[in-house]
Amino acid sequence: MPRKVLVTGGAGFIGSNFIHYLLDRYDDISVINLDDLTYAGNLRNLADLEKDPRYFFIRENICNFPGLQTVFKKFEPDYVINFAAESHVDRSILDPDIFIRSNVLGVQNLLKLSLDCEIERMIQISTDEVYGSLGESGVFTEKSPLDPRSPYSASKASADLLTLAYYYTFNLPVNITRCSNNYGPFQFPEKLIPLTILHCLKGEKIPVYGDGLNIRDWIHVDDHCSAIDRVLTDGIPGEIYNVGAQNEMTNIEMVNTIICALKELRPDLPLTEDSIVFVPDRKGHDRRYAIDPEKIQKTLGWKSRMPVSEGIKTTVEWYLNNVNWLESVINAEYLHYYSVNYRIGNPLPKL
Ligand code: NAD
Ligand code: DAU
Repeated sequence: MPRKVLVTGGAGFIGSNFIHYLLDRYDDISVINLDDLTYAGNLRNLADLEKDPRYFFIRENICNFPGLQTVFKKFEPDYVINFAAESHVDRSILDPDIFIRSNVLGVQNLLKLSLDCEIERMIQISTDEVYGSLGESGVFTEKSPLDPRSPYSASKASADLLTLAYYYTFNLPVNITRCSNNYGPFQFPEKLIPLTILHCLKGEKIPVYGDGLNIRDWIHVDDHCSAIDRVLTDGIPGEIYNVGAQNEMTNIEMVNTIICALKELRPDLPLTEDSIVFVPDRKGHDRRYAIDPEKIQKTLGWKSRMPVSEGIKTTVEWYLNNVNWLESVINAEYLHYYSVNYRIGNPLPKL
């Protein structure tokens, strides 16, 4: 019998990469992708799998318990991996409510059903942001205290605590992964890297918050997927695993790396350091993140493979080869969010 994996939020950036990752590697599994197709969910990310008999898509919201229950009863999954969440910090500052519903109450539904249906393993995909902000030195380990600062990270930390409660109280075999900033194909262009590429292609200035010296620790999405795969196979129930590739960069360094890659691949684009504009800072902007991945490296033998310079280049190439994908996600909702967040009246020109 093939093992059945219920992937929630599989039409988003990391979830869709993870589904591809699993189906590319394993013949003896089937994947049920449950996603409510919010602004960030996009079935184009999985169009190549439409005819794959190992892949099923269900449109459902993890906040709808009866609907979710029907899916659990129909498919009887062996594993549940939850990517479904509102994932953008800036949106959580503009409107926190939906973050609590999807990221906390939705997770409670998944945990309850995973317990009722005696799931073999439930993995909650969490984030390094639950640890808060670092000063100039130090790294996040799994023992670092939870200190979330944004409504987004507070909702993710809440879900982590609930997930652990199901382990300690009910013995539900859970894992939590806490990964640093991902980049790669299919990332929605509200996030720094695809937003930078989009702005360069449109001849618009790249908005950098504050002084541009905030630090993020970047990892290619394929490396995140391989870490989740290791946890799914060999993770110890109840354990938390930090995932990161030890690539700390200031936002300015990252934006300049993208500009360099674009200059090489598209010398016709008029790109200079003047392409950057410093805009008002994000409220409560975390200064620095840095993940210590030693636990997953030592206990599960995982390591990241993609050097950041190569990863950014292939990512930029992907967006250049998929301009239609980029254009297709720039709809009225996106433009509205964009004008509110950046306080800009003019819509982005067409590519
Ligand atoms: P994303 O915003 O690209 O995708 C989220 C997906 O979840 C979308 O397909 C959306 O339609 C779906 N979704 C949202 N609310 C839902 C609901 N209530 N019911 C059903 N589906 C719903 O997010 P992403 O960047 O792919 O992140 C995936 C997960 O990984 C999130 O839990 C996020 O917190 C976590 N994470 C992200 C990063 C990163 O750098 N992007 C890093 C670490 C952890
Ligand atoms: O660390 C993991 C987290 O990484 C995930 O949990 C989140 O889901 C994911 O969105 C990401 O959060 P960040 O807030 O770090 O990612 P974002 O791409 O929004 O921002 C990266 C950095 O770039 C951050 O310091 C803010 C800055 N930034 C972002 C945008 C969108 C800018 O300077 N300008 C921008 O326009």
